Amino acid sequence: MTPPPAGAPHRLPRHVAIVMDGNGRWARKRLRPRTFGHHAGQKAVRNAIEFCLRRGIAALTLFAFSSENWQRPEDEVGALMELFLKALDREVDELHGHGVRIRFVGELAAFAPALASRMRAAMDKTAANTKLMLNIAVNYGGRWDIAQAAARLARAAQAGEIAPDQIDERSLAPYLCLADQPPVDLFIRTGGEQRVSNFLLWQIAYAEIYFSATLWPDFDAAAFEQALADYAGRERRFGKTSAQIAAGNG
Ligand code: IPE
Ligand code: IPE
Ligand code: MG
Repeated sequence: MTPPPAGAPHRLPRHVAIVMDGNGRWARKRLRPRTFGHHAGQKAVRNAIEFCLRRGIAALTLFAFSSENWQRPEDEVGALMELFLKALDREVDELHGHGVRIRFVGELAAFAPALASRMRAAMDKTAANTKLMLNIAVNYGGRWDIAQAAARLARAAQAGEIAPDQIDERSLAPYLCLADQPPVDLFIRTGGEQRVSNFLLWQIAYAEIYFSATLWPDFDAAAFEQALADYAGRERRFGKTSAQIAAGNG
């Protein structure tokens, strides 16, 4: 195997974030209710986690439920909550066995107590694991994330820990979700839509973006592999010139 050229960026992303979209359309194509698509999507979640473990990807962040998804019909929201609850009961031990650290990111207080407490239990149980950082974004919004970080930084300023005119990107960054993890290298959205839908905003400032037409329940290892191949072919310049990157000043 030829080694990557000197100064080449990481060819394997350390952190992949995925907007798992297209469950509803997958079900409609089969003349089934939308919730059938959400059920089918769970297998794709398992595949993606297994794939990251196998390929040695350090962090995987999955968008499972946005702060806007509460606006869906009540029965669909109810079915999704039921699905999350069952998935937690079913999957946590196995993920723990594989060394996966589970973290839920988002405003967890909005969930029913039974669900919120299971989420906390899963995080506590797997907190010391190091094989894969699995972040599940639920009731998450990129704008919410920035606002909650600003609120916490304001409290630090009020406590005299930082002066308001010292505030810059570096002082805000630690308060954002996922601050303790590698930067998001690769942002994937399945289902064909080409938008961010209020998922990670700050964190994807320099992520490579990959849109796949594949509907989420069909997103398998081969599809993930294709996204990685596309990523490996990108030149990440971070504002520099191609010549600088080639010269190893990247
Ligand atoms: C994504 O699939 C899953 C969630 C938002 C929970 P959708 O349910 O948005 O599926 P489409 O986009 O309607 O096909
Ligand atoms: C984004 O998908 C949210 C998740 C995948 C959890 P949506 O289906 O809600 O996004 P929009 O509404 O089409 O932008
Ligand atoms: Mg959708």
